[in-house]
Amino acid sequence: MATFAVTGSASGMGAATAARLAAAGHTVIGVDLREAQVTADLGTAEGRAEAADAILRASGGTLDGVAAIAGVGPDMQDPAAVMSINYFGPVALLEALRPALERSGAGRAVVIGSNSASTVPLVDDALVDLSLSGDEQGARARAVEQQAAMPAEITQIVPSITAYASSKLAIARWVRRTAVTPEWARKGVTLNAIAPGAVLTPLMLGSTGKPEDLDADSFPTPMPLGVFGEPEDIAFWVDQFLKPEARYSTGSILYVDGGTDAAMRPDAYPTPMTL
Ligand code: NAI
Repeated sequence: MATFAVTGSASGMGAATAARLAAAGHTVIGVDLREAQVTADLGTAEGRAEAADAILRASGGTLDGVAAIAGVGPDMQDPAAVMSINYFGPVALLEALRPALERSGAGRAVVIGSNSASTVPLVDDALVDLSLSGDEQGARARAVEQQAAMPAEITQIVPSITAYASSKLAIARWVRRTAVTPEWARKGVTLNAIAPGAVLTPLMLGSTGKPEDLDADSFPTPMPLGVFGEPEDIAFWVDQFLKPEARYSTGSILYVDGGTDAAMRPDAYPTPMTL
């Protein structure tokens, strides 16, 4: 049986993933702000370092997989916190845990991004670049500036939408850039991302209201399958990426979104290489 660290384990997709792995007999080290074996705030440098230390102590220094699922939504009032939690949190934690993944001989890392990275037309390129350059203070300041420049009719509903979509595009790019570096790829450690669509969790319902009031056919983005996702729909794919047999996929972004991205941008992906 394997040992996995799962962030965001107290709710939604993280809780569903932790439950699925535990039901299969694996050891799960849950990480969250509350109700977890490791309680830490992944939005701060200190919290990330504490979390990494506690995970390494609990695992004995070797991990079979890490599922970086903790995150916040576009309804969060503070866009700076969105950048710190959704981008800098998983990056720092995965970098700190990479040697423990390497030690297992077949480490697996999975990050939860979002289809908002490609379906929300409010991404700020500078915010993505600041994130990828590792400038957390710069990204936080830029996110606040961007929110202030956004029309009130948008920020009243989703105050941090630019930070949210930008943090999720940045994490997708970080996964693709990082997965293929020798430190990961040549050590047998795979790194992939899942881009969920609208999944019925407390995070999504914070922006949209009660599940009984939601109708897939009148949702603002197209929902070809006609249903919302459940946390278990995402946990299923996280579990697949965590398996030792999933050794030939790295740097991929898997859309698990009911077909939303394909409906909105059918030909945008894959894009052909140009000379
Ligand atoms: P959720 O709110 O049910 O669970 C998120 C968990 O992350 C919570 O337990 C929360 O306490 C934890 N968390 C938040 N900030 C944290 C911090 N600073 N330190 C440690 N833990 C923290 O939300 P859900 O929907 O399960 O979200 C999981 C991931 O999926 C997030 O990264 C989110 O951005 C992403 N996502 C969610 C979508 C949805 O429709 N629900 C769509 C696309 C992406």
